[in-house]
Amino acid sequence: MPNIVFVHPDGAREELEIAEGTSLMQGATAQGIDGIVAECGGNCMCATCHVYVEPSQLALLPAMSEEEDALLDGTASERQPNSRLSCQISVTPALDGLLVNLPERQV
Ligand code: FES
Repeated sequence: MPNIVFVHPDGAREELEIAEGTSLMQGATAQGIDGIVAECGGNCMCATCHVYVEPSQLALLPAMSEEEDALLDGTASERQPNSRLSCQISVTPALDGLLVNLPERQV
């Protein structure tokens, strides 16, 4: 299974194995990670699954939908060029080693 590295705002790292085809959000919350709220359950309606993806790895991700782009304008922590919604990222083998920074807050 692809290994995804989550980095908390305090610098603490958590490495999680997430099955292919699972969203980053689902894989992380199912393993009890702090820092992703996912109020809407992955329906691209809440923006509480906001993450900052390592900039050099952004090109590995699927393109952003208009819905995701619009929701990212309403995140609790400031939107950055590398902001994504983790529920919209489906894990693939290409994402093995992906580094994801968690924001200071989600709500
Ligand atoms: S879980 Fe609600 S937008 Fe991702």
